[in-house]
Amino acid sequence: MMPKFPYTLAALCMLVASATTSYGQTTTAVSATNTPIVLKIDANKIVAHVSPTLYGLMTEEINHSYDGGLYAELIQNRIFKDDDKQPVHWSLIQRTEDSGSITLDDSQPINDSLTVCLKLKADNASVNNPVGIANDGYWGIPVKPKTTYQASFYIKSKSDYDAPIIVRLKSNDGKILAQAQVTHISKSWKKYAVSLTTDAGIIPSANNKLTILIQKPGTFWFNLVSLFPPTYNNRPNGNRIDIMQKMADLHPTFLRCPGGNYVEGNSMATFYNWKKTIHDISLRPGHPGTWKYRSSDGLGILEFMEWCEDLHIQPVLAVFAGYALNKEHVVAGPGLDRYVNDALDEIEYITGDAKTTWGAQRVADGHPKPFQLTYVEIGNEDFFDKSGSYDGRYAQFHDAIKAKYPKLQLIATTKVSSRIPDVLDEHFYRKPQDFEKDTHHYDNYSRSGPKVFVGEWAARITDKVPTPDMNCALGDAAWMTGMERNTDLIVMASYAPMFVNINPGAMQWRINMIGYDALTSYGSPSYYAQQMFYQNLGDVVVGAQLDGNPDIPYPAPAPKPGTDPPATPPVMPALSYVITKDSKTGLLYLKMVNITGSTQNILIKLKGVALATTHGTVITLAASKPDDTNTITDPLKIAPATTKIALAAEFNYKFAPYAITVIQIPTK
Ligand code: AHR
Repeated sequence: MMPKFPYTLAALCMLVASATTSYGQTTTAVSATNTPIVLKIDANKIVAHVSPTLYGLMTEEINHSYDGGLYAELIQNRIFKDDDKQPVHWSLIQRTEDSGSITLDDSQPINDSLTVCLKLKADNASVNNPVGIANDGYWGIPVKPKTTYQASFYIKSKSDYDAPIIVRLKSNDGKILAQAQVTHISKSWKKYAVSLTTDAGIIPSANNKLTILIQKPGTFWFNLVSLFPPTYNNRPNGNRIDIMQKMADLHPTFLRCPGGNYVEGNSMATFYNWKKTIHDISLRPGHPGTWKYRSSDGLGILEFMEWCEDLHIQPVLAVFAGYALNKEHVVAGPGLDRYVNDALDEIEYITGDAKTTWGAQRVADGHPKPFQLTYVEIGNEDFFDKSGSYDGRYAQFHDAIKAKYPKLQLIATTKVSSRIPDVLDEHFYRKPQDFEKDTHHYDNYSRSGPKVFVGEWAARITDKVPTPDMNCALGDAAWMTGMERNTDLIVMASYAPMFVNINPGAMQWRINMIGYDALTSYGSPSYYAQQMFYQNLGDVVVGAQLDGNPDIPYPAPAPKPGTDPPATPPVMPALSYVITKDSKTGLLYLKMVNITGSTQNILIKLKGVALATTHGTVITLAASKPDDTNTITDPLKIAPATTKIALAAEFNYKFAPYAITVIQIPTK
């Protein structure tokens, strides 16, 4: 049994640093590795009330997050605007050469959005030589057994055409996986829809195409060719089930949308103009996104809100604030009014009832019930605007929104002096060790200004990999202990980016929480670290003190040429921790992050409460090496494991190496 007060004289002499937070969770660090480590938990001392919206999600169209990701549409380039010159992702089908041709054609617009179509000349088509078009999807078209897909398309013919047109899901090696047909194609545009159902026996695969085939000579025009698998909650125009489920399994509380850089656009001509993302998808022109590909806007502002509704969470709405990534901006004044009014209209679209102009539009778009909205963010990362225009732009948005919606909490994206925002959004992309060294970042942060939203954060390594490894997850978890301890200040936090399509060419930003291809998805170690933090959270942070936390060397960057290395090599704590309590049930959640490769044996002493049961639950996310990771082919290599432990008022627990551990301790 460990001594009650564990310091030996030698250990006391080796005391090198002591950091005491004003919030009652204290670390006393020593450089000795053999010093007993003691965690004293003062379970009745409330040091902060946990923000009910502490952990949430952040999203934008990046790395094919929506098109080729969450948005379940399987056809890439469905309205033929992805490339000006070629019908990219489309190909001609023919058995005999020169039987037909496909070209882009802008002479047959359906409306102001569907202005470019695909013209198919099927000069030599016959039953034995069907001629048609094929789409290769987003890195393949996923097809699963016993599944029904909804295909639809707009078509017109040069002359009335009464032979069947065949719609197929076909494997790249020629197998027909499902098919249906339509007839009576006329000279004016008409939408056709068919269901395609696969047999039980087929093997799930993404090596497939959608094909539409003509069996008699003719000339045809196609637009808005669409194919949907079953969606989450069966929503028409909805989302992929597996990715939605991954988000639901995190237990988030909010979704920051729609960006990020995506809300800003690369120029003033391409900012996120929400009004062009509503109505039926046939009325959405799409727009050039920020991350090098065009966005279909099939997942538009209403779909963002329905995504929140499906996860039972609130949106944190980011509005365009008159600054684009190429530094074009509108200074405060009458020129900015248009954008301020757009933001007011957007809020009305989301929250207004049917008596309001934009609330009525939402009702017409299919969602009678207004959505709940508490937070609105004005812009994104406006600290990049070196012109200094943000102060004035923020003030103009702030005054207009507060005048109409006084209850809304407004978020500034950098410090302003013109107004006092309710919340300030701060972003951190750092190396894992920088998070591990800086877990006390917010301990002494001013409590007299705005609250803080850590709206984007992630531990990143420099490898060009889509998703983080265990090293990153340890950095993330260490950082989360600091955010959680300071949740009186930090009202919300969201990791970014959330999604990446892992196919070659799909990724623009390395290190993202959830990876996927056309067929499946996986959570990274950082995903599971967050799941453990989100799911194991009380409503109060309680007092605790960790004595004997070993210091380990901090891998600082090499000193700049001509400068001396620091006299004392920098160190960082081996362990980071936070304890919260559910004040209704008495359940304590002890979170401990051990970034070392050694087991850390800690004596845990409970004060102020009695145990409610003799056993507790331990959830551990551990790796044998820090660079261990999950991949699409090995998705659960690093995943939480749950065990039971015997509890006592004082008990020892051996915290695994390279591990994030949660101990649930029932108290009364
Ligand atoms: O998350 C990726 C990008 O990082 C976001 O779009 C932007 O806000 C930040 O710079």
